[in-house]
Amino acid sequence: MMNVGIIGAGHIAEKAARTLAAMDDMQCLAIGSRSLEKAQAFAGRFGIPRAYGSYADLLEDPEIELVYIAVPHSCHFPVTRDAILAGKPCLVEKSFMLNAVEAATILALAREKGVFVAEAIWPRYLPVKAMVQEILSSGIIGQPRMITATLAYDVSDKERVLEPSLGGGALLDLGVYPLTFVRMYADAPVSQINTTCIKAPSGVDASEQISLVLENGMLASLQASAWCQGDNQGVIAGTDGYLVFDDIINPTCLRVCRKRHVVEKEIPVPEQITGFEYQFRACKRAIEAGLLETPEMPHAEILYVMHLMDRLRAEWGVRFPGD
Ligand SMILES: NC(=O)c1ccc[n+]([C@@H]2O[C@H](COP(=O)([O-])OP(=O)(O)OC[C@H]3O[C@@H](n4cnc5c(N)ncnc54)[C@H](OP(=O)(O)O)[C@@H]3O)[C@@H](O)[C@H]2O)c1
Repeated sequence: MMNVGIIGAGHIAEKAARTLAAMDDMQCLAIGSRSLEKAQAFAGRFGIPRAYGSYADLLEDPEIELVYIAVPHSCHFPVTRDAILAGKPCLVEKSFMLNAVEAATILALAREKGVFVAEAIWPRYLPVKAMVQEILSSGIIGQPRMITATLAYDVSDKERVLEPSLGGGALLDLGVYPLTFVRMYADAPVSQINTTCIKAPSGVDASEQISLVLENGMLASLQASAWCQGDNQGVIAGTDGYLVFDDIINPTCLRVCRKRHVVEKEIPVPEQITGFEYQFRACKRAIEAGLLETPEMPHAEILYVMHLMDRLRAEWGVRFPGD
């Protein structure tokens, strides 16, 4: 049994707590919040044995073996730095940091201190990834040439999402997933970017359109938005057919279609708790093997995506106070 400590008693921490409560090889031992009252209420809701009224107190608990960091993007850097300095392995929510400079600094510190750190970009850890790779290498859709993906939720009522000082904007919250979708299934560097965004009154990106040309000749057309509900589907189009994802983050079914919309195969995805269990287990496996990163999302890839997002924000003129 591996003991996890959650930092930040917010929205996604609840999903993590629910997941850990249903796992038999990992458990949430403690929750850390800036408020003891809030930590105690959260602990009560999910049957968590220990509640701390500060993040520092949780980091001092010698029985915590993995810290899951679920705070706004602008807080990822200071909280992860403190966790690494306390010698705690970390799983940091996406997007990993505000920018590539912060990411490189944290990864260098983790290496120097010999502390494990990973990004909780959960599609990377799902079993569906291997299923897709098998479908693609079977040749059933022919040579992949094009990817389309959308991720849009109306989360404009969340202060964290629109506030520049918290690292808000659709890109770090949602756009990171379509980018990840491309990086997972089209193994080639980006050679060209064409992009545009609509800004919210606060100055962060609210909706964006991103075209990527890859070095292998593939084209990706991606959209993300924090102020509308999208279909959130993805398609990988090849010379002989296409593969449809009903959801680019956590698909329930993969549909292989041949020309003229003929469905060749429908492949269901295995039952899961919430899907978060795979990222937690990947960390457990890596830590037990003495690794400092997960093979599913290596540090070099974390940095690559952070650099891509820096380039996109530079194109749009979206800057955070913490940049
Ligand atoms: N994997 C996913 O599917 C998914 C989905 C949504 C979000 N996320 C990611 O998870 C992280 C947190 O998102 P969330 O939606 O859970 O956010 P949230 O509901 O706003 O919760 C964030 C928590 O961070 C803590 N916090 C620390 N400093 C804060 C500050 N200055 N302002 C506000 N809160 C602060 C608060 O906990 P305390 O008051 O207890 O200290 C707060 O409850 C982000 O990185 C986000 O991108 C991931």
